[in-house]
Amino acid sequence: MDGNRAVIIVAMNEETGGPRVVLNNGVEIPQVGFGVFQIPEEGAQSAVESALAAGYRHIDTAAAYNNEAGVGAAIKASGIPRDEIFVTTKLRNGNQGTDSVRREYDGSRQALGLDVIDLYLIHWPSPARNLYVDSWKTMEQLYANGQIRAIGVSNFLQPHLDRLLAETDVVPAVNQVEIHPRFQQRDVVAHGRKSGIAEEAYSPLGQGTYLDNPAVTLIADRLGVTPAQVVLRWHLQNGTILIPKSENPERMRTNLDIFGFTLTDADISAIDALESNGRIGGDPMNAEWTQIR
Ligand code: A2P
Repeated sequence: MDGNRAVIIVAMNEETGGPRVVLNNGVEIPQVGFGVFQIPEEGAQSAVESALAAGYRHIDTAAAYNNEAGVGAAIKASGIPRDEIFVTTKLRNGNQGTDSVRREYDGSRQALGLDVIDLYLIHWPSPARNLYVDSWKTMEQLYANGQIRAIGVSNFLQPHLDRLLAETDVVPAVNQVEIHPRFQQRDVVAHGRKSGIAEEAYSPLGQGTYLDNPAVTLIADRLGVTPAQVVLRWHLQNGTILIPKSENPERMRTNLDIFGFTLTDADISAIDALESNGRIGGDPMNAEWTQIR
């Protein structure tokens, strides 16, 4: 991956959720997280309980997923010390704005049952609203007050990042965007890294749609691992933070079991070559929704 590396791996320990990445403010985040997009509220608690039991220590949700309470219940039920679990949630598009951010943050915090949110993201730039700079300034205050350990953005393209960097003080710790072999967003990633912004990959498996691709299965067969493990390892070796999602406990476990093998440079190049502008999710230039399920 081109561009300066903004992140370094400091620890490798399966029992604590795998390697961690140091964000631009010194906060450490487990590089592999568990994403709960599209997991309904009624299934979220048991999915997150299974994920925590499988060893995940980084959970990624959003107000717009309507499952924060289930995530919070699972964290509480797990008995795992609070400081061993990294929790991300995101500001809903419809609640962007100077004052509403504070209410939205409090709502998320209470639903999650947490005093402090580890990472709080603007979910989409929502250019039509033109409120992401105002929203960020309130998030900067919450961050300065110690109510959030790190603040970041999601789905920001270069113009949105450039405007934020020009008009506000705190450089986002992360930019969470759609990244998988068919949609690698190298320009967005390289641009962010130059400013010290770590990229987080959502839909890192391309929502499971092309795990039968021969370029991937050939490597998987040679290494004796699953195609999903090959794709996730590709992200890991790129230095990207990733949040695979699964509702199946066995797949949750194998998706985290990616620290015991290494892809060669040729393997990485073969997966790099799958780029085909294959966006699956929304286009940040016009995604304005307030509810995602
Ligand atoms: P399931 O929940 O039944 O495991 P992404 O993280 O890119 O959004 O991909 C999530 C999708 O990929 C879900 O449909 C999930 O289905 C599927 N998936 C997750 N892990 C695996 C895996 N190891 N092998 C095959 N499909 C997977």
